[in-house]
Amino acid sequence: MHPMLNTAVKAARRAGTIINRASLDLDLVKVSRKQQNDFVTEVDKAAEAAIIETLLKAYPDHAILAEESGRTGNSEYLWVIDPLDGTTNFIHGFPQYCVSIGLQHKGVMTQGVVYDPTRDELFTATRGAGAYLNNRRIRVSKNIHMQEALLGTGFPFKNLNILDQYLTLFRHLSARSAGLRRPGAAALDLAYVACGRFDGFFEIGLSPWDVAAGSLLVTEAGGLIGGFDGEAVGIEHKDFIAANPKIYAQMIALFKEALPAGVSPSAME
Ligand code: IPD
Ligand code: CA
Ligand code: CA
Repeated sequence: MHPMLNTAVKAARRAGTIINRASLDLDLVKVSRKQQNDFVTEVDKAAEAAIIETLLKAYPDHAILAEESGRTGNSEYLWVIDPLDGTTNFIHGFPQYCVSIGLQHKGVMTQGVVYDPTRDELFTATRGAGAYLNNRRIRVSKNIHMQEALLGTGFPFKNLNILDQYLTLFRHLSARSAGLRRPGAAALDLAYVACGRFDGFFEIGLSPWDVAAGSLLVTEAGGLIGGFDGEAVGIEHKDFIAANPKIYAQMIALFKEALPAGVSPSAME
């Protein structure tokens, strides 16, 4: 395993231990609200601190972009961290959340870890070396038929202005696929595309830390990820489709059919 990936795995497992311990007594977890329907707990913060400490101990010069504490440092290497993706699920004891840690080198994703501490599932990828689940190679699904495709998504929950456009897409896709699921942790949704549990995924209004590690998992597993037009975009982009290549092309076509004027919902945020 690449030494930088190894460090990221160590950091993710440390965060997972903090999250699992806290999940045993959720009544004790203090919750605060960042904005409408956007919550943070002391567990998010403790997990983030443990991750950053582990990474900086190994690589003191590297830069960090973390959801709860923002950006620090100035380096070719940038760690992009979501210490607890799926906080709303976590608060409710709904076991679908994860830790996400991605590394960019000169703006290119090179390492990614998504760790689900509830199932002890560790998804890892190194650029050019494939994607793995608990050390076994994973690939995107082989399904080529939209009618048989299981799609993941995230419902808009902060910016409700985009709900109408979203529902148009939802209606169009749910009538043409095998089903849509909204598990509630975007980084884990991307990991599920990488290992073939989902044939495709889309969401409006994501943040870099939701996408960083998961995007590398998807591409290293043979999938595609990009904007709603199918174009290649960076992690600072907000609206993403990820899927196996055949379903990806079909999703793009369906998005055009559903919203011919194009989708620019995140411009409204
Ligand atoms: C959220 C989750 C959710 C997605 C949101 C994210 P958080 O992350 O990934 O599934 O729909 O867009 O913000 O706030 O739980 O880290
Ligand atoms: Ca997140
Ligand atoms: Ca989070």
